Amino acid sequence: MKPLLALNWKLQKGPAEALSWSKSLLEKLPSNLAADLAIMSPTISLSAVSGVLLGSKVAFGAQDVSAQGKGAFTGETAAAWLLELGCKFAVIGHSERREYHGETDFIANAKVKATQAAGLTPILCVGEKLEVREAGNAESFTVGQLEVALNGVEVNADDSLVIAYEPIWAIGTGKTATPDDAENMGNAIRAFLDGKYGAASAHIRILYGGSVKPDNIKALCARSNVDGALVGGASLELDSVLGMLNALA
Ligand code: 13P
Repeated sequence: MKPLLALNWKLQKGPAEALSWSKSLLEKLPSNLAADLAIMSPTISLSAVSGVLLGSKVAFGAQDVSAQGKGAFTGETAAAWLLELGCKFAVIGHSERREYHGETDFIANAKVKATQAAGLTPILCVGEKLEVREAGNAESFTVGQLEVALNGVEVNADDSLVIAYEPIWAIGTGKTATPDDAENMGNAIRAFLDGKYGAASAHIRILYGGSVKPDNIKALCARSNVDGALVGGASLELDSVLGMLNALA
């Protein structure tokens, strides 16, 4: 599988801006992409993004999804409706959802299952706070998150599942993990996935996220078990997205 460059716009780009940005992206995109490219748009902007990108080589998805299919769940978005718009991915368990919305690994587990059941690819986010890393527990903490969030989750084909390792201390701080940090955690996650899924582990891409930008993406993604990136701040400007694609070429 190619590396995956997943752009997490977070709470940026409403429908009008998402529409014009997506159009400009298609105009400027090189014909041969060194990575699979996907935009994680605000839910409200997904229709606009879909109107431009559906059927193109750029995939798209949501930043969150409901664990429920239907019913009295005010404010939620069902995975099946994301599929209806042409989404391929849903981000689950992002640290900002955990921090500001009380999401737990148990909730992430239910969302991963609902997402897969609808035919979408979950991008499950895990990663430790600074104090956990400083106490030397980063790997056991992160693998512990996976144990719960992947309980009963199956993997049988490419893109059944993507894991994003996002150390919280590196998100939006300009403090990128070193390529060694990213690789060491990638290896620990892969060892867990190999143990759980055997040969099917090869279907799962492990992304790194946290202050990724054009001038560090190549060194990070050159490492084993760093199969792409989940990018926040540097995903907002077209030039920087083109710069990251260029760096991966
Ligand atoms: P930054 O790239 O802005 O550090 O954000 C990372 C992130 O949270 C992507 O999901």
